[in-house]
Amino acid sequence: MLEVMDQKSIERIKKFMRKFYDKRAKFYDEIQFSNQPFHEELDSFKRLVKIKGDELVLDVATGTGIYLIEMAKKGAICYGLDISPNMLNKLKNKIEKLKIDNIKEVRTGEADKLPYPSGMFDWITCIGLLEYYPLSYAKNVLTEIKRVLKVDGKCFIDIPNPSLGDVYRLKHIYLHDPKKFEEICKELQFTVIEKKKAGLMIQYLLKNLILGKKF
Ligand SMILES: C[S@@+](CC[C@H](N)C(=O)[O-])C[C@H]1O[C@@H](n2cnc3c(N)ncnc32)[C@H](O)[C@@H]1O
Repeated sequence: MLEVMDQKSIERIKKFMRKFYDKRAKFYDEIQFSNQPFHEELDSFKRLVKIKGDELVLDVATGTGIYLIEMAKKGAICYGLDISPNMLNKLKNKIEKLKIDNIKEVRTGEADKLPYPSGMFDWITCIGLLEYYPLSYAKNVLTEIKRVLKVDGKCFIDIPNPSLGDVYRLKHIYLHDPKKFEEICKELQFTVIEKKKAGLMIQYLLKNLILGKKF
């Protein structure tokens, strides 16, 4: 059975996250690029996520868009969503500076309430989010991702590697049991195409077998 957290507590985490990342936005890229595990994670992402030019991609919890920009460089039609306005402002500055014209939309929003129609995207990525929330929220996010993914669409998503527990001394990290996470994937009718340990994370490449519920 999944431990379910009440909605008020989830909203409290979201509020904390928004404030935390609004403050961190200024230094986020600098911190990430100076961190070795991040480079391993990014390299592995590049190996696993093979996007074709004209595909529609959504990056959930896109932050400053490090991964979104990688996908835009491949010619994908990109959408990014995040709860922190300051992280998104950093992303918007980068888009302008790099003159990228295939990032169609960058908007504030929450991972469990995606403001897009059902079956819209070929790819959805969600990187560095689930460790901040209990598994019940991870399930809500995956359910929502499934809804907006096409049939046969792919999802790249990660959770922290729990065997590296010592590294995660931060109070606000949830070390999910990969088996429980995979059970949720199975229940939602995602197939695990690839599972890779990279940096501090376990990365999953999932395929959506059937269309999610329309709400
Ligand atoms: C560790 S950062 C990852 C950013 C980006 N995916 C990357 O890997 O560089 C986590 C991001 O999740 C966002 N976030 C936290 N809770 C969220 C939620 N419930 N819905 C959408 N975004 C959220 C934060 O604002 C932050 O930008």
